Amino acid sequence: MSPRLRNRILVGDVRERLRELADASVDCVITSPPYFQLRDFGMAGQLGLEPTVGDWVEELRVVLGGLIRVLKPTGSLWLNLGDTYSRHHRSGAPPKSLVLAPERLLLALAADGWIVRNKLIWAKTNPMPSSVADRLSGTYDVVYLLVRSGRYHFDLDAIRLPHRSHRTDRRAGRPVYPPPGQGAPSWDSDHGNQGLAALHARGQVGHRLGKNPGDVWQIPAANYRGAHFATFPEALVERPLLAGCPERVCRRCGRPYKRGGRVSRSQLGASPPRRAPRDVHRFKHHYRVIRTRGPLRPGCSCRAASQPGLVLDPFFGAGTVALVAAQHGRDWIGIELNPDFARLANERIANARTDRATTQASSERQAA
Ligand SMILES: C[S@@+](CC[C@H](N)C(=O)[O-])C[C@H]1O[C@@H](n2cnc3c(N)ncnc32)[C@H](O)[C@@H]1O
Repeated sequence: MSPRLRNRILVGDVRERLRELADASVDCVITSPPYFQLRDFGMAGQLGLEPTVGDWVEELRVVLGGLIRVLKPTGSLWLNLGDTYSRHHRSGAPPKSLVLAPERLLLALAADGWIVRNKLIWAKTNPMPSSVADRLSGTYDVVYLLVRSGRYHFDLDAIRLPHRSHRTDRRAGRPVYPPPGQGAPSWDSDHGNQGLAALHARGQVGHRLGKNPGDVWQIPAANYRGAHFATFPEALVERPLLAGCPERVCRRCGRPYKRGGRVSRSQLGASPPRRAPRDVHRFKHHYRVIRTRGPLRPGCSCRAASQPGLVLDPFFGAGTVALVAAQHGRDWIGIELNPDFARLANERIANARTDRATTQASSERQAA
């Protein structure tokens, strides 16, 4: 990918601008396309306002076909979708029925060869109040994890959560974890789920680095009050980014760096996170354990320099994906149809950069 395109917004229709990105150049896509007939983003050429749900599926299928080309074979796509209720038979479902738009799209994508690895429930802890009296109010959206091949980059260790329960070694009075180096290695998808039964058989409570966060995520909807009214919450982007977008990749062949292997005492703590994420209450402990999971090492034998992993949001809106990417040292590219939203996103990104620089300067002053 040309350095000129990194950390930039391409303003225009995703179906046009995606063509400018090189083949197999993107490590991860995190995006929330317009839901079917939910919002008017005020631009000719916008997706989401198709007359029928079938048309919406076909348009998104075209966009995702373009993403297949730009995504590396090791890449992943995290797709946030929500449903709507039909108002007319002509939309594709009887009035008052859920349209089942996400399900229809996913069936089409599976037919196009996408491997559907997860369906995550984003359970909103602050759902919109609803006045409906003849059904339950809707309180969740979905996020699908899609990949192109069975071997893809997935850093589960980066998003593990602390175990709630600890099996205690009665004599020593401390929790029992597998000895260092004997936990299930999980830095790539080949090893993902091995070892839990073995750990339990040895009387251990779970993986030394914490537990798998599972597929129901309790996250409040975004409280962003700017001119864009459909932004992601940053917390919803954080886990997909940490798990799906490598910290570093080889500049020559593009393969992701990995963590793992033997960890010497002197290497422990060699790569602390740049800053704690927002939901610190859960992550304080989490990041302490992450630091013990070993240094980054190349996933290839090129002996070339490295560069940050690259995340793309083809429906960029107010740029939440870029904010989270920058917090975690990844590069990003956004595509957005509406120039006003692109301007807003650039302002948000610049403000966040200034905030980070101010925080860093003050912590350096305190440390001095
Ligand atoms: C749900 S919003 C994305 C919000 C974003 N995730 C954020 O956090 O700000 C969908 C975005 O897709 C944009 N969009 C709609 N049709 C598009 C098209 N054909 N090409 C590019 N962007 C488009 C809309 O303008 C809108 O900003």
